[in-house]
Amino acid sequence: MSSSSIVYRPYVGEPDLAQVMALVQSELSEPYVIYTFRYFLHQWPHLSYLAYSSESGSNPIGVIVCKQSMHRDTYNRGYIAMLSVDKAWRKRGIASSLVRNSIEAMKDDGVDQIVLETEYDNLAALSLYESLGFIREKRLYRFYLNGKDAFRLVLSIPPDERKPPVTRPSAYRAIQVSDYSDDESDDSVSSR
Ligand SMILES: CC(C)(COP(=O)(O)OP(=O)(O)OC[C@H]1O[C@@H](n2cnc3c(N)ncnc32)[C@H](O)[C@@H]1OP(=O)(O)O)[C@@H](O)C(=O)NCCC(=O)NCCS
Repeated sequence: MSSSSIVYRPYVGEPDLAQVMALVQSELSEPYVIYTFRYFLHQWPHLSYLAYSSESGSNPIGVIVCKQSMHRDTYNRGYIAMLSVDKAWRKRGIASSLVRNSIEAMKDDGVDQIVLETEYDNLAALSLYESLGFIREKRLYRFYLNGKDAFRLVLSIPPDERKPPVTRPSAYRAIQVSDYSDDESDDSVSSR
């Protein structure tokens, strides 16, 4: 099957939530709770994408979850928090397309750089992101709850591709949740 039969769309709201959670929780080691998902998805729904195939019916086969925020009042930073593709649909370019969709959406929000962490031995993720231009910035000791180190990867957006930041009205009523920090000062005490 070619990847041309795959459709990508942004997150639309709570009806998507259970399926996003199922896809992420089945594949990522971190025990994310519903509040973590809502923290990202309620504030930045336009940065998160789902992939569908006509063969998979109403079940998404891939998902990416992202945010955008100012980092130390210096960088307008995009952050890829979660990425997961159903095992049966891998190696068809779906993750690459999800990441590209989110990169373009984050660029529309004016980001200077995009960062993420992945387990140091996740060769599929490292290869995927490096093929898209991300570089390894640092290794984070015992970053994950399972005790594994992470690599932080970063993609710098060239100045001529940056856009003025836009202010978006929130699509949702604000929900009080703890901030999910990607500040470097938090590396040694990751809350995840
Ligand atoms: C990592 C993951 C998202 C990749 O999804 P995918 O849809 O199969 O990826 P793509 O088909 O877009 O692959 C793009 C590139 O990534 C790399 N890649 C993907 N899977 C790979 C693997 N198993 N081994 C080595 N490289 C791999 C290759 O460079 C590939 O390009 P190529 O097909 O031209 O060789 C998927 O394996 C997954 O969901 N894993 C579990 C969750 C996870 O690790 N998420 C990332 C956490 S940050």
